[in-house]
Amino acid sequence: MFELKPQHYGRKQEHYDDLVSQARALLDGEHNLVANAANFSALVYHSLAELNWAGFYLYDGTELVVGPFQGKPACIRIALGRGVCGTAAQTREIQLVRDVNAFDGHIACDAASQSEIVVPLVKADGSLLGVWDVDSPRIDRFDEGDCAGMQALCAVFMETVRG
Ligand code: SME
Repeated sequence: MFELKPQHYGRKQEHYDDLVSQARALLDGEHNLVANAANFSALVYHSLAELNWAGFYLYDGTELVVGPFQGKPACIRIALGRGVCGTAAQTREIQLVRDVNAFDGHIACDAASQSEIVVPLVKADGSLLGVWDVDSPRIDRFDEGDCAGMQALCAVFMETVRG
């Protein structure tokens, strides 16, 4: 079905462009949230190097609840404003955490996680769907290029969200 290509260092932008195309093809015509979130997580997790977790936390109207993901079992519920995910959800600003040990309040679901990006997911009507979280076992794994890439990928995912 889909050929998953390993990341080539030094060609980050190209790799994300390619991944965006793959995500668009994978989600094309499908609007089931769980199906798309599951496939999106699998695509990203298996296409980028040095990730140990990639997945969704969905807002249930009160707090964030873990959704489809790849990686080890994670904390189930995160209050808005708590940890990196809760901060992204509350501020609606992307969080680039180069070293989780330096982030006050970081929630260590997996002790291996050392850096992460969390992208807030806001629907067309302005309401919060949840957040997209990618974690790495390497400090400083992510930079601004990864932020831009993750935002472009999340935009493809959000295009499929109805309601
Ligand atoms: N580290 C996150 C929690 C989620 S897990 O890493 C999967 C946080 O601080 O919000």
